[in-house]
Amino acid sequence: MSKNIDWPNLGFGYIKTDKRFVANFKDGAWDGGCLTEDDKVVISECAGVLQYAQTCFEGLKAYTTEDGKVVCFRPDLNASRMADSCRRLRMPVFPEDEFVQAVVDTVKANIDYVPPYGSGATLYIRPYMFGSNPVIGVKPADEYQFRIFTTPVGPYFKGGAKPIVIRVCDYDRAAPHGTGHIKAGLNYAMSLYQIVEAHEEGFSENMYLDAATRTKVEETGGANFIFITKDGTLVTPKSNSILPSITRRSLMYVAEHYLGMKVEHREVYLDEVKDFAEAGLCGTAAVISPIGKINDHGKEICFPSGMDEMGPVTKKLYDTLTGIQMGRIEAPEGWIKEIQ
Ligand code: PLP
Ligand code: COI
Repeated sequence: MSKNIDWPNLGFGYIKTDKRFVANFKDGAWDGGCLTEDDKVVISECAGVLQYAQTCFEGLKAYTTEDGKVVCFRPDLNASRMADSCRRLRMPVFPEDEFVQAVVDTVKANIDYVPPYGSGATLYIRPYMFGSNPVIGVKPADEYQFRIFTTPVGPYFKGGAKPIVIRVCDYDRAAPHGTGHIKAGLNYAMSLYQIVEAHEEGFSENMYLDAATRTKVEETGGANFIFITKDGTLVTPKSNSILPSITRRSLMYVAEHYLGMKVEHREVYLDEVKDFAEAGLCGTAAVISPIGKINDHGKEICFPSGMDEMGPVTKKLYDTLTGIQMGRIEAPEGWIKEIQ
């Protein structure tokens, strides 16, 4: 029985659900892992995660499709990106096939929290791993915990699909040879100062530029950029220091193979952003959030699509991607993992 939750009015927040997955790494091996009702984590005061932030995470969603199935979207790509994050942080990889199975098992165990089709809400799935044993010299932990919890969520940005206003940020998110391309907790810790500042100034997000030259567009704190040119090409920024968004990679495929659009994945200069017809953010949490304006130190870049609704090409991308996720449009082979 579906839980009695006010699905259409859910924000992007945490609601404790019934079960979570926990596996432990000790003496060089993972145990089999299990589902538990215990939502508390008990670790040493000197745990690697607490002292040196040795942690990474993933984010994906489960949906109820039009015909009543529960599915999730490309969990194999989250498994492989988490493996990349673990390798970069000297953490043990949780086997990718077992990651996908654990996602399935965790969603199944919380099936009553998967929002109904058409409610506007989804079940957000958060896999994460951290160093759990005492570490005082700067080195990787020897013991780790891998966990997955779920929480029903609504839109990441208030107003759902309404255009947002963002600002060009003077702080950097990621160094050229740093950790911007993986989903390390530390990338988010160092964004908190400037996201609070952005919110205080009335902006929804920060546009980060490349740290080396501050001339190229990277991404925001929690999503990649998409731009549409005046002649309808999808342009997405390419850089070694942005997170390879699964939504962005999926949109590039959808644009080319479903909508017959031209797609460019290349360096994007801040100077050329004013020439785009439409702009948006894309990610699991953000889905596609249209950008109405970008504030560059008081100078406004206003997109012709305006502040009232999504631009027409962004809308087509949004409808096609969410159509695939919700089972209204046939998905490419392997994109949809059926849970129940
Ligand atoms: N960029 C950052 C910094 C993110 O945190 C996220 C969220 O996961 C994304 C991009 C979007 O990635 P994905 O589409 O895989 O969710
Ligand atoms: C996601 O989209 O899954 C993320 O991890 C972004 C985060 C800012 C909520």
